[in-house]
Amino acid sequence: MRILKAKDYKEMSEMAADIIGAQVLLKPDAVLGLATGSTPIGTYEELVKRYESGRLDFRKIKTVNLDEYRGLTKDNDQSYYYFMHSHLFDHINIDKANTNVPDGMEPDAIKAGEDYENIISNFGGIDLQLLGLGNNGHIGFNEPCDEFIDKTHVVDLTQSTIEANKRFFASIDEVPKQAYTMGIGSIMRAKRVLMLVSGKGKAQIVKDAFFGPVTPNVPASILQLHNDFILIGDAEALSCL
Ligand code: F6R
Repeated sequence: MRILKAKDYKEMSEMAADIIGAQVLLKPDAVLGLATGSTPIGTYEELVKRYESGRLDFRKIKTVNLDEYRGLTKDNDQSYYYFMHSHLFDHINIDKANTNVPDGMEPDAIKAGEDYENIISNFGGIDLQLLGLGNNGHIGFNEPCDEFIDKTHVVDLTQSTIEANKRFFASIDEVPKQAYTMGIGSIMRAKRVLMLVSGKGKAQIVKDAFFGPVTPNVPASILQLHNDFILIGDAEALSCL
């Protein structure tokens, strides 16, 4: 595990874009695993800037996103499909046929999971997986529980995640109660994992996840066992270390 300290959110985003940009330059047809949420927005802005100035070319890049709310259509502005298009895909030269987000409207959870795992394996696995960190230690939507779940599956969101995500919806009742998410194994099989953490609110969970026991009660703690895991945090998020 490597921990890189940024002074603030902007520097964290630039450092993340440096690493993702290096991956794109080294392997122009790389498979990027992507995340939503507020933390990676600055990184996506930075990648767009670098594309616009001719420094990055996404023509052959393939992507798989971590997760999607169950029951939200692609055109719902709270869906992760919509998020990825508005923050990244619509602004770079990626072939949208090569971008993937779990299908939130697939009613059959088994099929949704299998289809998504097939997409990942047909791509030959993920070269670089970008992650944020939930306040309760979740990664993707793998919530604290009694066991690590391997592959893409449906989850019931915890009350704390529903609370944390209500800021994006008109009211808490509109926050979906379930999601499809890559499993812990889907994430751990990525060749490299890059997690971004920002703000004081994440400081305690960063300490618990990366300096405490490896346990499914803190799902991110499993990343201690990944052999190419980079954590970039701003000063506030790393303030408990
Ligand atoms: C998003 C995702 C989530 C977020 C996490 C942190 O695709 O999988 O695990 O990364 O909830 O969210 P923010 O960045 O909003 O603090």
